[in-house]
Amino acid sequence: MPSTPSHFLDIDALDTRTLRAILDAAAALKKARKVPKGLAVPKGAVLAMIFEKPSTRTRVSFEMAMHQLGGAAIVLNAQDMQLGRGETIGDTARVLSRYVDAIMLRTGPHQGLLDFAAYADIPVINALTARSHPCQIMADVLTFEEHKGPIKGRVVAWIGDANNVATSWVHAAARFGFTVRIASPADFGPDQDLLAWARAEGAQIEVMEDARAAAKDADCIVTDTWVSMGDKDVAARKSALEPFRVDEALMALAKPDAIFMHCLPAHRGDEVTDAVMDGPQSVVWDEAENRLHAQKAILVWCLNKGRLPARAAAK
Ligand code: CP
Ligand code: NVA
Repeated sequence: MPSTPSHFLDIDALDTRTLRAILDAAAALKKARKVPKGLAVPKGAVLAMIFEKPSTRTRVSFEMAMHQLGGAAIVLNAQDMQLGRGETIGDTARVLSRYVDAIMLRTGPHQGLLDFAAYADIPVINALTARSHPCQIMADVLTFEEHKGPIKGRVVAWIGDANNVATSWVHAAARFGFTVRIASPADFGPDQDLLAWARAEGAQIEVMEDARAAAKDADCIVTDTWVSMGDKDVAARKSALEPFRVDEALMALAKPDAIFMHCLPAHRGDEVTDAVMDGPQSVVWDEAENRLHAQKAILVWCLNKGRLPARAAAK
């Protein structure tokens, strides 16, 4: 019976030790000029990248990650595939499993990702669904720790729509032991199932409708677009989220050395002002760069059957 591939589907699907080993590997890969011994991918490994939604960072950082690791990547726009003409996810996954070594998928319904993984004989990586964006948050935790030290016990304030990126922050809070405060309008707050999961995991999640209360003395202020890919209710969102803009006055409520994060793309003037994006507390460019390093580590983990060097795993 073949073993289950080492999928990277979500942060809540993995344990703290594994996630920490991936972050340690990401830091080692970032520091090294050459791929360190034990952090390589099998020779000639190929990643297929399927996009059902647009992307700048994810596409380029995954492709460069494979290039720098000595492998290769094939970019597939779902509209150009038979998938776009009704071939099933299961059949597509089975066929691609015969050609390539891992598959990265950006799609809408999360179930599509799970179905893909169920039929694939090779690792599948979640590159964003309507539910979550785990690769982003691995890069974000790496970025937080580079700037502020261990994230355990710290406070991250999420301001705005409690969307897919926010969900992955909640998963990370449970696994890495930090607090997430979510400030959202009632209609765009976190899912009750997610909060129930977080409570059962003992995670520190505080939900409120007051952005100022969430920002107070936080170590990090983070936000994202008010209208995610696939969202239809644009006018209702923009009007409800208007009081949730991250500006200098909101940043001033956080700790004096707090950082500002945004997964990008930013909609300057909506969820964040230019002054914050381009201000001294913003780490958004480091955050974007760290997608590359975090994803290299994720790829090494996936392509080596969930194994990373003992040094990285021991921490
Ligand atoms: N943050 C992020 O995933 O960006 P892209 O949509 O450009 O890939
Ligand atoms: N929440 C955004 C993230 C984009 C990277 C979206 O899903 O569109």
